[in-house]
Amino acid sequence: MIITLNQLYKISLFLILSVISVIILYFGWDYYTLPLNKRFFSELHTLLKPSGALGHGFGIIGSLMMLVGVVSYMIRKRVKRFSRLGALKNWLIFHIFLCTLGPILVLYHTAFKFGGLVSISFWSMAAVVVSGFIGRFIYLQIPRTIEGNELSFNDVNKLNINLTQRLRENYNLSESILLMIDEFSFVDLEEIKLSSAISSFIKKTIEQRKALKKIKSVLKKSEISKENRKEVIRLIKSKLVLTRKISLLKSMQKLFGYWHVAHLPFAILMLLIMLVHVGVTIVFGYRWVF
Ligand code: HEM
Ligand code: HEM
Repeated sequence: MIITLNQLYKISLFLILSVISVIILYFGWDYYTLPLNKRFFSELHTLLKPSGALGHGFGIIGSLMMLVGVVSYMIRKRVKRFSRLGALKNWLIFHIFLCTLGPILVLYHTAFKFGGLVSISFWSMAAVVVSGFIGRFIYLQIPRTIEGNELSFNDVNKLNINLTQRLRENYNLSESILLMIDEFSFVDLEEIKLSSAISSFIKKTIEQRKALKKIKSVLKKSEISKENRKEVIRLIKSKLVLTRKISLLKSMQKLFGYWHVAHLPFAILMLLIMLVHVGVTIVFGYRWVF
């Protein structure tokens, strides 16, 4: 199995995120699991309390990570001058990395104790993260270029026609197999209600899984070579996913529009209260290592 550069990038970020999260949890487990009234007597208290050397540092580094994660993505997406600075989709992955690790560090900063006005900031942050994962799912349902920019309806249709042509012309498949593929990858352009977009997605995915199983068993019995069969299955998979995306495209684009409107206010609320919180702590004399 060959790992592409892009996969290596994602795997490395995922590993960094997991290792850092697990190491801190392992190191602080005895402290974080103590009842609040006993924490003061723990030898880890001076390090891991929200104003401790490490605890305070987690808050600062985690908040900076979120800031960099949001600002860098917004600039790369909006400023034309930076459009050659790496693919947009890789910047989104970097956004997700920083904006997942950042909140995890902030969670350790709170030492799992959420009190006062700043808890609103914490819960807004949690809401943005959860909504981020939902947004990522919708984002992936909208066909894009390798760069990560949205494709138009016509471009997606062209891609679909191209896949059909490749399947028809290159592998000498029988007419009955080709008909079967066409039938299972039918594009349904009937408008779907937004409320049923997700259930339609699940229904279509299940249907297509069954279809793929059926096609695979027919292909196994056909005369096609093992090597070609692998390639054909790969193309059929792409075609099934693409036709599902085309059928749901309008609904997903609308849903993504609404998602954007819901995602931003929580991010702003989190940021505003965080600024107040930081201001208050500085006034109270907390300067971390400085
Ligand atoms: C979104 C980001 C942040 C959240 C959600 C957050 C949340 C919290 C929470 C829940 C506490 C514990 C409050 C309590 O004891 O009841 C706390 C304490 C504290 N935070 Fe943050 N924090 C964030 C960022 C920061 C940053 C960037 C700094 C420093 C520049 C900071 C400095 C402190 C300090 C010094 C305390 C201890 C205050 C004390 O013991 O009175 N926090 N924070
Ligand atoms: C505290 C954490 C987070 C904050 C403050 C945050 C903030 C933002 C903001 C302000 C945008 C709008 C950017 C723009 O329109 O230019 C955005 C977009 C987005 N975020 Fe986050 N985010 C966070 C975490 C996450 C996570 C954890 C994920 C996914 C797992 C995620 C996925 C996305 C996606 C898919 C977009 C849309 C990209 C696009 O339309 O181009 N975010 N985020």
